[in-house]
Amino acid sequence: MQSAPISGPILGLEASCDETAAALLAPDGTILAEAVRSQLAEHTPFGGVVPEIAARAHLAHLPALATQVMTEAGVRPADLGGIAATAGPGLIGGLIVGASFGKGMAIAHNLPFLGINHLEGHALTARLPGLVPGGVEFPYLLLLLSGGHCQCVAVEGLGRYRRLGSTLDDAVGEAFDKSAKLMGLPWPGGPALEKLAASGDVKRFPLPRPMLGRPGCDFSFSGLKTAVAQTIPKLVTGQDRADLAAAFQHAVAAVLADRARHALAMLPAATAMVVAGGVAANQGVRAALTAEAARAGLPLIAPPIRLCTDNAVMIAWAGIERLRAGLTDPLDQAPRPRWPLDELSAEPSGGVAA
Ligand code: KG4
Ligand code: ZN
Repeated sequence: MQSAPISGPILGLEASCDETAAALLAPDGTILAEAVRSQLAEHTPFGGVVPEIAARAHLAHLPALATQVMTEAGVRPADLGGIAATAGPGLIGGLIVGASFGKGMAIAHNLPFLGINHLEGHALTARLPGLVPGGVEFPYLLLLLSGGHCQCVAVEGLGRYRRLGSTLDDAVGEAFDKSAKLMGLPWPGGPALEKLAASGDVKRFPLPRPMLGRPGCDFSFSGLKTAVAQTIPKLVTGQDRADLAAAFQHAVAAVLADRARHALAMLPAATAMVVAGGVAANQGVRAALTAEAARAGLPLIAPPIRLCTDNAVMIAWAGIERLRAGLTDPLDQAPRPRWPLDELSAEPSGGVAA
């Protein structure tokens, strides 16, 4: 693939869900400045993300975050080499805020614009220079484990993604959140459930392991959630709750390891197993996946937590990879609430050659 020169730092913007983020990366991928503002406080009273509130909060905070990273790095808009903003998939209000803000800056300063697929951002994070010595080579297996997404993806090259399997019902983070809610834990439930599970006995409550051993690498978590709901009335003490949390986390980790094993069998050329998404923060999940990758003789690459969860560094980095390939996007590119990774391309038809 041709390599086009990039004239200056790339500003990345992320506003697709409930994190507002901006980051500035040098053309070689060095992180010059980064900032994330979580909307946890706005959404917690509602027990989940409220799209309208999210869009308004992005609008209120994105300009200041962009200014903050530019000031911190001492970079003026005129020095930039391009603007990369998440253009999908995600909540349409936030996507419009982020992409329009990016396009506005691109027009004002005559810069290339890149409307980035959020999932491509997660998929390419492992290639950020400095993260893995020597970098991760294509192809690799990506396990995207977040509140909104749960899929196994063959990352075969820039713009070349093959979904090997995905969830038939809930995303794995959603399963953590819903089960945690049933256990009376605050939203978002994943971290709280992990904490509770630490003092629990994984063997006390036998829970199902949906899809275990099934061909392919699809996931299903609704049966597990139902089993948790049916066990709740049996709980009396705090220890009972901890035991159920531990059993749930153990079952999820076992299912993820099994699905990862099947996914690796579908991508025998994989050079690594990469995890991304908030659930990748879970130590039990990480341990199970590390063991599974090692069994296949591969490393498990888990970016630091702040780069596993939603952030703008990954958006700027995907922008750099695309700009290097000579791709940019037109200013009339419409944000897409639904935008499967496998619809992306690194050919000029998937963007426009710079
Ligand atoms: O990637 P992310 O920050 O946002 C999106 O969903 O896009 O992922 C958030 C999800 C939530 O469902 C949260 O409960 C889950 O990741 N999560 C965890 C942990 N930390 C975050 N799940 C299990 N264990 C954790 N330590
Ligand atoms: Zn995400």
